[in-house]
Amino acid sequence: MPSIPARRRNPFTATVGKTPPVLAGRDAFLRDFDSAIWDGPGSHERISIVTGPRGVGKTVLLNEFESVARAHAWHVISETTTAGFNDRIRDRAYRLLQDISEKPKRRITGATGPLNLGITTEATSTFSPTPSLRSVLDELFEQQSALDARLGQEPVGLLITLDELHYAHMDEIVEFGTTIQHLVREDHEIAVAMAGIPGAVKPLLAADEGRNPVTFLRRANRIETGMVPVGEVRDALEQTTAQVGVSWSNEALDAAADATGGYPFMIQLVGQHAFRNLSGDTIDVDAVKNGIADARRKLGQLVHEPSLADLSEVDRTFLTAMSVDDGPSRMSDIARRMGVDSQYAGNYRKRLIDAEMIRPTAHGYVDYELPYMREYLRSHPATEAMEQFSFWPE
Ligand SMILES: Nc1ncnc2c1ncn2[C@@H]1O[C@H](COP(=O)(O)OP(=O)(O)O)[C@@H](O)[C@H]1O
Ligand SMILES: [Mg+2]
Repeated sequence: MPSIPARRRNPFTATVGKTPPVLAGRDAFLRDFDSAIWDGPGSHERISIVTGPRGVGKTVLLNEFESVARAHAWHVISETTTAGFNDRIRDRAYRLLQDISEKPKRRITGATGPLNLGITTEATSTFSPTPSLRSVLDELFEQQSALDARLGQEPVGLLITLDELHYAHMDEIVEFGTTIQHLVREDHEIAVAMAGIPGAVKPLLAADEGRNPVTFLRRANRIETGMVPVGEVRDALEQTTAQVGVSWSNEALDAAADATGGYPFMIQLVGQHAFRNLSGDTIDVDAVKNGIADARRKLGQLVHEPSLADLSEVDRTFLTAMSVDDGPSRMSDIARRMGVDSQYAGNYRKRLIDAEMIRPTAHGYVDYELPYMREYLRSHPATEAMEQFSFWPE
C-alpha cells in the first residue's frame, strides 16, 4: 500500500461557541472577572452582561468565565435564554444540592452526621409540589456555606451563565433577575454572566425606569466585546499553528492578520483556510491569499446572512444602499439612494447603530461594523427592498 503522508490536524476552531486554541485580546475581561470572584459578594463584575455582534466571541467569553469560576472550585450552571430556562437552572441547582449532600458523607470520616437532604420549600410547598428557583438556590447556598464552615475552606460559590439573552423572554428574565437580586442582597457567593447581541439586549436595558423590574441588568457590568487589535491577532495566529509545529512567513502572517479586521470569527476562518493550503511546515502568502477568499465566503454564510435576517427590510435596504461606496457612506447619499428624507434615514441610522450593524465615523458619515459586510451586500443585495426603493443602480 502506498504510504499516506502524515497530515497535521487543523488547529483552528471556526465553529460558533467553540473556545479557540488561543484566545486573543480578552485578558483584561478575564482578570476583572477573576478579581471579582476573589473580592467577594458585592463586587461589580460578579454580575456582567456581554454584548457585541455575532461572531465576536461572546459565548467563548462566557466559557472562559466558567473556567475561571471552576479554577476557584465554584459550581457552574450554563444555560441559554430559551423558554423554561428558570426551571432548567432550578433543576441543575437541585442536582448540585444533591451532589454536595452526598459526596462529603463518603469523603469525611467522623463528620457530624449527614446533611439535611430534604429541601426546604417553605411557604411555596403548601401550594406547589415543585420548589421555586429561589428556594432551591437559597437551600444550595445554605448547605454549601455550612459545608465550607465544616471543612474550614474558602466559600464555594455558584456562577450562572445565560447565553443568547433576548427581550422576547422578558418575563422569565425578570423572574430570574428578581431571584438573583435577592441572593446578592443576602451576600451570597453568586456570580452571573449573561450575553446577547445588542439588538436583543438593549430593549431589556431600556425598559421604563419607574417600573423597570430588570434593574439588575442595568446595574450590571457591561462588557462590550469588540474587535481585537491586529497585533494581538497576529500573535494568536502564530501561536495557534505553533502548537502543531507550523509557522508562517512574515508576509503571510501580516496578510492574514490584516484580512481578519480583528474580528474573532474571522481569526479562526482565515487561519483555518490558510492552514488548508499549507506547504510543508509553513504557510506562505499564496496560501493566505487563497484562504481569504474561502474564509470570506464562509463568513457570509455563518455571520452576514443571519445578522441581516435579524433586521427589518428597511434596515437591510439602508445597509445595501451603503454598499455603493468604497469607504464610509455619507448620510445624505444614503437617503438619496433610498429615495427618503433625511429624518427617515436618520431613524434607521439610529436603529442600526443600536444594533451595532453600523457606527458613526466622521460627521455625517457611517460605516459597517462587521468586516466584509460591504462585499457581502454587493454580491447579495437586499433585493426585495431594492424593488421598493429602486435606488440601484444610481
Ligand atoms: N478572543 C478570541 N480569539 C480568537 N478566536 C475567537 C475569540 N473569541 C471567539 N473566537 C472564535 O470566533 C468564533 C465565534 O465565537 P462565539 O463565541 O461563538 O461568538 P458569539 O457568541 O459572539 O457569536 C468561534 O469560532 C471562536 O472560536
Ligand atoms: Mg454565541
